[in-house]
Amino acid sequence: MTAARLGFVGLGHITVNAHLPPLAALAEKGDVTLQAFCDVDGETAAGRARTFGANAVYTDHREMFDKEDLDGVYICIPPTLHTDAELIAAEKGIPVMVEKPQTLDVAQAVRFSEAIRKAGVPSQVGFMSRYYATAEFMRDRVSERTPRHALVQLLYSGGHIRYWTSRFELCGGSFVENTIHMVDLLRFFLGDIAEVSAFYHYRKPGEGPHPINLPHVYDVNYRFENGVVASVTTSRVLTNVNASRREVLVVCDDSLLEWSAETVIENGEAVFESPGADNAFARQAREFVNAIRSGDASELRNGYPQALNSLAAVLGANASASEGGALIRLEEFVRGTAGGRDRTRADAGAKPDAF
Ligand SMILES: NC(=O)c1ccc[n+]([C@@H]2O[C@H](COP(=O)([O-])OP(=O)(O)OC[C@H]3O[C@@H](n4cnc5c(N)ncnc54)[C@H](O)[C@@H]3O)[C@@H](O)[C@H]2O)c1
Repeated sequence: MTAARLGFVGLGHITVNAHLPPLAALAEKGDVTLQAFCDVDGETAAGRARTFGANAVYTDHREMFDKEDLDGVYICIPPTLHTDAELIAAEKGIPVMVEKPQTLDVAQAVRFSEAIRKAGVPSQVGFMSRYYATAEFMRDRVSERTPRHALVQLLYSGGHIRYWTSRFELCGGSFVENTIHMVDLLRFFLGDIAEVSAFYHYRKPGEGPHPINLPHVYDVNYRFENGVVASVTTSRVLTNVNASRREVLVVCDDSLLEWSAETVIENGEAVFESPGADNAFARQAREFVNAIRSGDASELRNGYPQALNSLAAVLGANASASEGGALIRLEEFVRGTAGGRDRTRADAGAKPDAF
């Protein structure tokens, strides 16, 4: 089998630290070629190309798509900066791996999703938690039980490493930027989400370290298509202490299941431990490359069209919070008809007066 020629749009934090290391290992084995690096910052693209041995450098993805014959493309840019790379890839029949959150604009996500689905190209959204061995075990265990209730608590501490993740209008808030991983994981365990209602607690003007303008607390309730209800709570109140927490629980009839990347616990007893060094990013990369090379996408767990429900669930939470917890049906939200008006953009959830 020939090596898959890969292109990259965006050579920032996640591409360099999470995607390129396992892909560089696959390049050494001859499974992939790091063909083209594209970043609007030419120095970044050129520097990363030297480090990882990429063959070509671009600052415009359209030129990259014109000049290169690619077998797959990674699109890893901040969520407000997506334009047409996904559409061009779909038109050219090139498999795409897109980082989460796919965009902050549901209407744009629907357009990309339709193009990818119609083209029939393999696709993946960066929900790598689905590739933990513990996630697979948990999904299977939940399927053998009768789930009723799910709980996620994410209490973040520490600051932001990039400017755009400190601004609501650029990242959609911590629930969209970070908690989307756990919302997607609940979908892996429980299926699609039907409805959302959310309450956020906002900082007062001038409160909190500049330039952060994100809500302090996100309290979000979901109803899944199968009737399970979930409460997903996230806060960024603990900025200056080292006291974070991440809990993911599924409560079933006579079974309390607790998930972490390392362990699954049932009714207080560890029932599954992760086998050694379990690198979900590396597995995600291998599955994407395998799908490209074999043409068989059946092992991909998070295709772009399938991932739309996870994106709608977090952007729908923003829209609900901006309307005092209004109940939003995700099917209507995705169609742009929830409550008879357009609430598809994440900035519909912003509260500029509060900052
Ligand atoms: N899966 C995860 O756990 C995880 C972790 C971190 C980030 N992410 C996601 O990955 C995406 C990128 O985040 P990051 O941390 O790498 O951001 P970053 O700011 O570190 O890097 C983004 C890069 O994209 C470049 N860029 C912006 N617009 C571009 C364009 N149109 N064409 C080419 N290059 C462009 C920027 O110059 C920058 O180098 C975000 O959606 C983020 O949420 C996912």
